[in-house]
Amino acid sequence: MKPIRSGLQAFAIGVLALAATAPALADKEDFPTAKGTTPTIPGIDSDALAKFGGEEGVHKWVEALFYYIMLDNRINWIFERFGNPKRQIELNTQLETMVLGGPAKYQGASMSAAHSDLHITLTQFNAVVEAAYNACERVNTPYHVCNQLIAALAPFERVIVTR
Ligand code: HEM
Repeated sequence: MKPIRSGLQAFAIGVLALAATAPALADKEDFPTAKGTTPTIPGIDSDALAKFGGEEGVHKWVEALFYYIMLDNRINWIFERFGNPKRQIELNTQLETMVLGGPAKYQGASMSAAHSDLHITLTQFNAVVEAAYNACERVNTPYHVCNQLIAALAPFERVIVTR
């Protein structure tokens, strides 16, 4: 087994593992939300979106997320080859705002449709999780608030990781 590279990565993997034990319905494309149907561990507080700075704060976080994704040679080539940054930033802002309890106005493809052709590995998925934590630090989102978003997105691992 490869050595775990940092405490942060170990924690992110731990959060993912915990969230994966929740009875998530992501494989049925039932989105986890603060109001919604898919319980996450930790749960999503009703003020999670406000603590992120509302939809505008989420948008800044998504921009930071893509900044860190594009710095990471393990995954940036996938986004360069197959992605569309403007569309992805807009759709991720909608999706993340929704899972944090905001209005459900996500207009993009299902997570399985968007990712199945990409043959994404768990290592690549975890690289995006690292970028997500780095983005939280960059926009000064407190760690426990960041964890709620990570936990809300973690169930998607089941449909996004296909290799
Ligand atoms: C929980 C984690 C993830 C979330 C929430 C997420 C979210 C999204 C969203 C909302 C889209 C736009 C769908 C559309 O265009 O209709 C998308 C597309 C995409 N995602 Fe992800 N994603 C995640 C993980 C990943 C990972 C791990 C990779 C690669 C390492 C990745 C690579 C891509 C690419 C390349 C596209 C563009 C696909 C296309 O336009 O054909 N995503 N993702």
